[in-house]
Amino acid sequence: MREPSSSRVYQRSNRANELTPEERALYDTFDLERMPQHVAIIMDGNGRWAGKRALKRFLGHQQGAECVQFVVETASRIDLPWLTLYAFSLENNLRRPKNEVNFLMKLLKSYLISNVKRMNDNNIRMAYIGRTHELPQEVQDTMQWAAEQTAKNTGTTLTLALNYGARSEIVDASRKLVHNMIAEAHRRGISVEDMLAAEGVDDAIRARIDEPQLNAALYTANMPDPDLVVRTSGEQRISNFLLWQIAYAEIFVTDRLWPDFGGIHLLEAIAEYQQRERRFGGLGESSDEALADTLPSEAELARR
Ligand code: FPP
Repeated sequence: MREPSSSRVYQRSNRANELTPEERALYDTFDLERMPQHVAIIMDGNGRWAGKRALKRFLGHQQGAECVQFVVETASRIDLPWLTLYAFSLENNLRRPKNEVNFLMKLLKSYLISNVKRMNDNNIRMAYIGRTHELPQEVQDTMQWAAEQTAKNTGTTLTLALNYGARSEIVDASRKLVHNMIAEAHRRGISVEDMLAAEGVDDAIRARIDEPQLNAALYTANMPDPDLVVRTSGEQRISNFLLWQIAYAEIFVTDRLWPDFGGIHLLEAIAEYQQRERRFGGLGESSDEALADTLPSEAELARR
């Protein structure tokens, strides 16, 4: 668990003047010391948006792709350091009809090609998480190109989760730790068995597999954990998204369908987040700390 760094300097964004008047009015109410560092969004409801208008599902996805950039740019205007979007899950890849998957791939490619200039104009850096090596080669090439074109930007990092599943991420991280162990033994010119036995097997495994090391083997190794997870279209579930990383995230669910979600709705989610009290398993700011002094003694408890 990584809590927000206390060394961070809280400043009003110098791009706030680029927000719409409605967004600006809400942003001006924010407590800058309670800004999330990382917002992750489960973009859901494209199909329902299309269905309500008697349109084909693919038009819902197309509209959904249109509004991605508005949300991303609002995030960059408020200096949000990290924004992660669940764009295509491993399960979508396995369970959606082939023609829908193909359409989503085309949409992703054209989204990247047509928005790289806007990413650069907004100082946004692109990154990806997921089993992206399983995506069609031409999509991977475009992804790599977009990442390279935006690599020097220092504002918001926009991470697209593509062919992503949290369970498979944890499996991949575990495999990586085993590979690291084999590589270490190889470097030292001994067998894994001898290397572990020399330190005592349990101690040796504990030294090589713990929370920080598993964390560092995840796709998100260089990112802070999300502070806020937003899900559109009303479903109250996580759908295999960042299971490890959201252990202490706040969750905001809106009935609004993704194609109707805009920058102002991201700010509304952040406004709600600012009202939450985060405890990270502790007591929190509003707890009565004197309570500890009034706890019954063991002897008193035994008498009850
Ligand atoms: C859920 O809608 C959304 C997806 C499966 C993918 C999200 C994709 C986009 C927003 C567009 C492409 C994204 C980028 C970054 C270009 P759904 O089809 O599950 O909706 P439903 O639950 O209403 O059927």
